Amino acid sequence: MTPDPDPATALAMLDWQIDLGATEAIGDTPVNRYELEDTAPRAKAAVVVDKPAVAEPAAAMMADPKVAEGQAVAIAQQMAAAAPDLISLKSEINAYEFCDLKKGARNLVFADGNPVARLMIIGEAPGREEDIEGFPFVGKAGQLLDKMLAAIDMSRRSDDPQSAVYITNVLPWRPPQNRDPSPEEMAMLLPFLQRHIELVSPEILIPMGNIACQALLGLRGITRLRGNWTKAAGLPALPMTHPAYLLRTPTAKREAWLDLQEIRARLKGQ
Ligand code: URA
Repeated sequence: MTPDPDPATALAMLDWQIDLGATEAIGDTPVNRYELEDTAPRAKAAVVVDKPAVAEPAAAMMADPKVAEGQAVAIAQQMAAAAPDLISLKSEINAYEFCDLKKGARNLVFADGNPVARLMIIGEAPGREEDIEGFPFVGKAGQLLDKMLAAIDMSRRSDDPQSAVYITNVLPWRPPQNRDPSPEEMAMLLPFLQRHIELVSPEILIPMGNIACQALLGLRGITRLRGNWTKAAGLPALPMTHPAYLLRTPTAKREAWLDLQEIRARLKGQ
């Protein structure tokens, strides 16, 4: 039998696999992680990260998983509403124990950019790079998004609200194998997204791709929805195709450019 490698060698082998593109560790025996809950004690609200602590009635419910079952959405609404600012909202999301996506994610991916921006982009979910780094849109799609924004003189790094952008996702945790979120996951995370938008209070929202449109407009069919102004979360919204789609379908870039120009004109009051 091959002896176990020493820790440094094991780490180097793991790094090498990650460089090759491995994103999941698969054991000899399949593990249903959704069933682990039955054998492992649920983390209690009390052990959760930063202050301020979770909204108190929600914390009490979370301490009793039986009370909480079936109330995941109501608890999310309560926790989201209790957040007076973005820092508290991040803490509340971090403290939310009912979404199984959290169990498989390395990091909570909350947001990036300038919270005083006039423009807020809503993406889908963190991918591998975002999960590792803890920020949205840092992989290939994110690099394209930054280029697209630069083409209309906007940036998530800008200090000037006129040219600044704020970015978040429908899901704060990476779904396994980047699968689409289930309707239950969308429903329980939506109150946090809605509160996020309320706290940033941008002038314009850009839902990017089908998942963002489904969450905010209750509609799919991005190629039909894109480029048409609508309302989402009470704000003017212009759905756009997701940059990951543009990477796969370069011919769609022409329409994305039209949408970017539309945003620029709207922000300039034209
Ligand atoms: N795609 C998204 O929708 N969001 C990210 O953060 C990264 C890729």
